Amino acid sequence: MSTYSQKRAQPRLRALMVGFAGHQGKEYLPVVREYADIVGGVDVAPAAGALADDWGFPRFTGIGEALKRVDFDVAMVTVPHSEHFPLCRELLLHGKHIVKEKPFAVTEEEARQLIELAEGADRSVYTLLQRNFNPVFQFARKNLARIGDPYWFSYDYHFNLAQPTSGWRASREQALGGVLLDMGYHLIDVLSGMFPEPSRVNAAFVHHYQEMRDRHLEDLVSLMCSYPSPTLSGSLRISRHNHEKSERLCVLGTGGALNVEPQGATLHSTGGRLLERFTRPGPKTDAVRAMIAHYLGHLDDRDVREDHFRRQLTTVRVIDGIYRERSRERNELADRYS
Ligand SMILES: NC(=O)c1ccc[n+]([C@@H]2O[C@H](COP(=O)([O-])OP(=O)(O)OC[C@H]3O[C@@H](n4cnc5c(N)ncnc54)[C@H](O)[C@@H]3O)[C@@H](O)[C@H]2O)c1
Repeated sequence: MSTYSQKRAQPRLRALMVGFAGHQGKEYLPVVREYADIVGGVDVAPAAGALADDWGFPRFTGIGEALKRVDFDVAMVTVPHSEHFPLCRELLLHGKHIVKEKPFAVTEEEARQLIELAEGADRSVYTLLQRNFNPVFQFARKNLARIGDPYWFSYDYHFNLAQPTSGWRASREQALGGVLLDMGYHLIDVLSGMFPEPSRVNAAFVHHYQEMRDRHLEDLVSLMCSYPSPTLSGSLRISRHNHEKSERLCVLGTGGALNVEPQGATLHSTGGRLLERFTRPGPKTDAVRAMIAHYLGHLDDRDVREDHFRRQLTTVRVIDGIYRERSRERNELADRYS
């Protein structure tokens, strides 16, 4: 018997798209279809019915209806932040794998609950964070040791939106956080992959628009991170209304410097001699395809799952810790002036 015929053909995965009519959901439809059969979609948006017809799958307006009407292996979840936890909980209780947008969870408590449910059901919950699949960030992680012991990093990530934040991101109840949770999740996760968990983070929350200040949704956040080792510190600035869109991570080490932007990275010796320049070999979309293929291909891989849970728990804990501290300070101030 040939090796080919000895292999059992794996049936194609069946995917349910939850939030498919939104920005991220629409971006993922063609990629998911390469690796799975899309057997249905859940979205409450008025345009979702016509979109589902175009793609040839049934549209449901609630997860309960989808769970009753179609059989699927994995749900792709791309919904506003307030919807993540209740949807994921329901899906795990029904024994479904989940591949989802960030954040993995908003609070450490919810992250722990999801992990417990997933482990109990022997199911995965993977968070889509494209920097982990961008060859430039992979180069950075692999080559970090070449700059000696890192003692400082500086990470900036800015959008140049000309208007106040709108849609669900402008609603406290739906967004559950400002730019730190939304854009900052990516950066805190990148740092979780390179450095230990910070022992202390000092944060400044800044607002461009009064309505965002009123809703306690920061437009800009500036963070100073301290680590268990006194020889490492770092800072981040993340904002929505800068004059230009940019992302840059700079790490200084005892033997050189590493600079990373999504399109390319450089390694320099102390003093500035260029040691290596790395340029992203393909378009941005390659990372998205690689990420979705990887997670759909590892739904039953417990090692990948456990690593993912550990990393996401750290990322969630750091962000949750910053917001808790912020709300403690706010309450203290309110008490002092009441
Ligand atoms: N990785 C990235 O770079 C990136 C970029 C943008 C957004 N995101 C993340 O993607 C998620 C969605 O953001 P978006 O910008 O696509 O938002 P969006 O508003 O464009 O899309 C959300 C969709 O979810 C639908 N929806 C709302 N509640 C639902 C529910 N209970 N069940 C099913 N569908 C529901 C809405 O109708 C909408 O179509 C968020 O978690 C966000 O943080 C990630």
